[in-house]
Amino acid sequence: MILLTGGAGYIGSHVAVALLDAGLDVVVLDNLSNSNPASLARVHSICGRPVHFQQADVRDEEAVYQVLKNYSVTAVIHLAGLKAVGESNERPLSYYDNNVVGSMRLLAAMQRAGVATIVFSSSATVYGAPSYLPLDESHSLAPTNPYGRTKFFVEEMLRDMHASRGDWRIGILRYFNPVGAHESGLIGEDPLGVPNNLMPFVAQVAIGRREKLTVWGNDYPTPDGTGVRDFIHVSDLAEGHLGALRQLKEPGILTLNLGTGEGSSVLQVIRTFEAVSGRSVPYEIGGRRTGDVAACYADPSLARTVMGWKSTRSLMQMCADHCRWQSMNPAGYAGA
Ligand code: UD1
Repeated sequence: MILLTGGAGYIGSHVAVALLDAGLDVVVLDNLSNSNPASLARVHSICGRPVHFQQADVRDEEAVYQVLKNYSVTAVIHLAGLKAVGESNERPLSYYDNNVVGSMRLLAAMQRAGVATIVFSSSATVYGAPSYLPLDESHSLAPTNPYGRTKFFVEEMLRDMHASRGDWRIGILRYFNPVGAHESGLIGEDPLGVPNNLMPFVAQVAIGRREKLTVWGNDYPTPDGTGVRDFIHVSDLAEGHLGALRQLKEPGILTLNLGTGEGSSVLQVIRTFEAVSGRSVPYEIGGRRTGDVAACYADPSLARTVMGWKSTRSLMQMCADHCRWQSMNPAGYAGA
């Protein structure tokens, strides 16, 4: 049985599908602070098999311990956490509490229960402003905001666990920009309020829920002047977790980028979305967003070498799947 923390969320629901499709059993622990349990019912219909669910907070060490014991958990995939950069600047303590304290309590519960395998959801944000591209795993780590620092500190905690105990199996996955949705259109990203990230904003403009997109800057040193990112299909990302889990048969620590290795610009995303959806995405050019870098993309070759994983879904498919989810669920899970 695999424990999936934060499993009702956007990435979690896709990881749950990947695990169930591979024949594994899953128990989700989620406090539902930024997710809807309807996602888990949808996972059931996609896979024809339910996930177990426990509503609890990772900071509640006793609750986590009980789940580990009651479900005979053998490995943990830890996704639970807060993830908005802007909010982390305004409320840093919430980020340290949920992300750092939450991870610490989870590790303590695992240690008590004798579970020593964990895959952790980290982020390319731990690298900070790139000194070179593509970013490989040995690039220096210098996150530039509280959210990024919480991811960095949890990584440090895991490296310390690895150093102090020879028996732990640890996977650290650094995500680039997850977008898209399951091809069924049944699960996808359902941001609370106004989306911060590009793809959900584009999708909401395309279906008419928002009037227009603001492109944050077109004077970057990139081919068309707009920001360049490594967008990765959430189903490819989810399969990366399965790969990491399979790789962690022996004690050790594995740190891997999950990206495509290809950068796409904001304008490329808009045009691709328009082309695959047949809808228009009106936009205006605004000033640069504070904290943004010109370009950021991965060298994903280590993940391929180590676990035979690589992304297979194109930007067209990311846009098509994101659009299908948004069109089938214009108000997200709330409208279901
Ligand atoms: C953001 C976070 C990053 C986090 C990642 C998770 C910031 C500064 N960084 O990355 O830490 O790990 O999300 O997915 O928030 N854009 C627009 N208009 C919009 C929204 C975005 O032009 O309305 C542009 C941005 O300027 C950027 C690109 O689209 O060039 C991608 O932005 P976004 O989706 O927010 O991702 P990141 O900034 O890469």
